[in-house]
Amino acid sequence: MTDPLHTELLEIAQEAARRAGALLRDGRPADLAVAATKSSPIDVVTEMDIAAEKLITTLIAERRPDDGFLGEEGASGDGTSGVRWVIDPLDGTVNYLYGLPTWAVSIAAEQDGETVAGVVEIPMRGESYHAVRGGGAWATGAWDGTRALACRPAPPLEQALVSTGFNYVTEVRTRQAEVAARLVPLLRDIRRGGSAAVDLCDVAAGRLDGYYERGLHPWDVAAGDLIAREAGALTGGRPGERPSHALTIAAAPGVFEPLQRLLEDFDAWR
Ligand code: IPD
Ligand code: CA
Ligand code: CA
Repeated sequence: MTDPLHTELLEIAQEAARRAGALLRDGRPADLAVAATKSSPIDVVTEMDIAAEKLITTLIAERRPDDGFLGEEGASGDGTSGVRWVIDPLDGTVNYLYGLPTWAVSIAAEQDGETVAGVVEIPMRGESYHAVRGGGAWATGAWDGTRALACRPAPPLEQALVSTGFNYVTEVRTRQAEVAARLVPLLRDIRRGGSAAVDLCDVAAGRLDGYYERGLHPWDVAAGDLIAREAGALTGGRPGERPSHALTIAAAPGVFEPLQRLLEDFDAWR
């Protein structure tokens, strides 16, 4: 039976993600501009990233004033309840800036450091993904009701469709491009969607066989990692490690292991 606290956290996350998604979709200014840059000149933030995080943290704090926060746009604090919210208010900002549809709102709730609930809202697809620890992964979209998610049966690696992403820091993305160039001949193909949260949900939904990336932050991964695992995917980092800033991998069992071995052989984490 699902812990009632986890259900409560899920419902709050769903409401916050739905409202933030609507704000981002309906409130995007026609002349949307870059408000500031972060790790490099191409790592941008818009007024809408900031407005969405504010909406999410205000809603959550009203409902659960003792919880902590880790938000990409600055929300932080430990709280006193043992629950912390890990938030990427807009994952896929570059797509959003250009008017491309692949972007998402990602909200996870951790209890004592473990992710227990996660929501990824993808407004331009009309899809919303969610999971509670131990309760499977689910999605709503352009189909009747709520659909249970299951990752794809593993093909041989040479027939696997694998997504990745590139960091905003030039030296890191140069190395990532070298690794991707070595992988392409060994796979069916590579995708670069532009939102880590969407990539993880696509693994969960069987739309990708795998996904990997170096340099991600907790807010990129927290919700999508739970959704992928609850859909039966394996997730991790370097061999024996959990997903981390060094490396995040999510893939169907049978694709995960050879992909992880290749990424280790190629030093994909440095
Ligand atoms: C980025 C996206 C992108 C990934 C980058 C992330 P942001 O997040 O998830 O797909 O390749 O590493 O930083 O900046 O759009 O929130
Ligand atoms: Ca992100
Ligand atoms: Ca973001």
